[in-house]
Amino acid sequence: MASNWTPSSWRSKPILQQPDWPDKAKLAEVEKTLASYPPLVFAGEARRLTEQLGRVAEGKAFLLQGGDCAESFAEFHADKIRDTFRVLLQMAVVLTYGASCPVVKVGRMAGQFAKPRSADFERQGDVSLPSYRGDIVNAMEFTAEGRTPDPERLIKAYAQSASTLNLLRAFSQGGFADLHRVHRWNLGFVADSPQSAQYQELADRIGETLGFMEACGLTSETTPQIAETDFFTSHEALLLGYEEALTRTDSLTGEWYDCSAHMLWIGDRTRQADNAQVEFLRGIRNPIGLKIGPTIEADELLRIIDTLNPANVPGRLTLISRMGSDAVISKLAPLVRRVEREGRRVVWSCDPMHGNTVTSSNGYKTRHVDRILDEVRGFFAVHRAEGTYAGGVHFEMTGQNVTECIGGAEAITETTLGDRYHTHCDPRLNASQALELAFVISDMLKQGRYQDGAGRITAVS
Ligand code: PEP
Ligand code: CO
Repeated sequence: MASNWTPSSWRSKPILQQPDWPDKAKLAEVEKTLASYPPLVFAGEARRLTEQLGRVAEGKAFLLQGGDCAESFAEFHADKIRDTFRVLLQMAVVLTYGASCPVVKVGRMAGQFAKPRSADFERQGDVSLPSYRGDIVNAMEFTAEGRTPDPERLIKAYAQSASTLNLLRAFSQGGFADLHRVHRWNLGFVADSPQSAQYQELADRIGETLGFMEACGLTSETTPQIAETDFFTSHEALLLGYEEALTRTDSLTGEWYDCSAHMLWIGDRTRQADNAQVEFLRGIRNPIGLKIGPTIEADELLRIIDTLNPANVPGRLTLISRMGSDAVISKLAPLVRRVEREGRRVVWSCDPMHGNTVTSSNGYKTRHVDRILDEVRGFFAVHRAEGTYAGGVHFEMTGQNVTECIGGAEAITETTLGDRYHTHCDPRLNASQALELAFVISDMLKQGRYQDGAGRITAVS
């Protein structure tokens, strides 16, 4: 167990990006209530994810992490959850089948509510109000009441996370994810998109393979891997009072797990080695992520790695790089070289979203699909050059037909951004853009590697 650590030891450390709660007694009361509620996930599930990520660290699997930038209370519907889950399944199948590579699926779902912001206050005209920090803190609506942090929202976020997770468990274990339904995942607006034909072709091939396997006696009934899938949840560990309240000891091992999600990550703005987020996450045994942006130095990174993963366990730590398409090669390559030279075992994942956010000339916060792709390509190129393994991707996407990112085969433009721009925070890929990216990544995975006799995926230089 981590020394001098308790679930509340983060409270004596500096902390950034926190709401200014007007009623601290109420907050403490709500945290106490949450601490009495059941955990959302079990320690054994988090351990299973660490094992699967360990295989990613060894180059034997690929990590697909994605979902909303911020979940919202207003857009809480079964259809939305289903659609995002379905696109993740489609992407995973493209990667698994196209690149013959097991895919570890992790949603930014069932708890992704708290947001770091670039400014504490937002000004509109003469009025200045606290920034929106996610539905777990305050409302997007620009009124004094809406923007006042309200602790009751923590309870609502917990409840929404619980029912989202319940539905995700039903989808992944209850038949929806059965590979025999691979054609049916292609319904909805994606069916009319340019990716549809390519996906349909792949689904046909999978259908044939399943037919062959069935003839050999391998069916959904005999082989659970065909009928079910592992699906894990994750979110940014920003609001540590909430995380602390859901942190429990595992009765099997006596170790601490943050049972609000399977995986938690530290955001780029809160990753300081001596601050609260690093302190909290070093003590929980869940697999953890660390966002690394262009300002991180190699020495600093190594220090954080050693604090978070002192035993150097593969799968414990995923470094999620978000450098921006222009900086990915120059910034990421020296970090990869140093971390590998020092023998640290990490998963390298690429978030091509957060370093590529721009404002369109008509005022929308947006991202260009081309820049997103450029960053993914740069990420793969760095790993190819360094002889290391490009282990995963981290996307902000939705199953809805939104128009938030520019480009893609459907060619969303600045002018059409306004058609269906619904995000509560950052612009997301829509389902067809996400699928398009999965095909490109599948090609990169195929081209850049081969499997050796031990099933290890090795970069081809
Ligand atoms: C996010 O993932 O939504 C986010 C805020 O990312 P980052 O910490 O990398 O800026
Ligand atoms: Co975001």
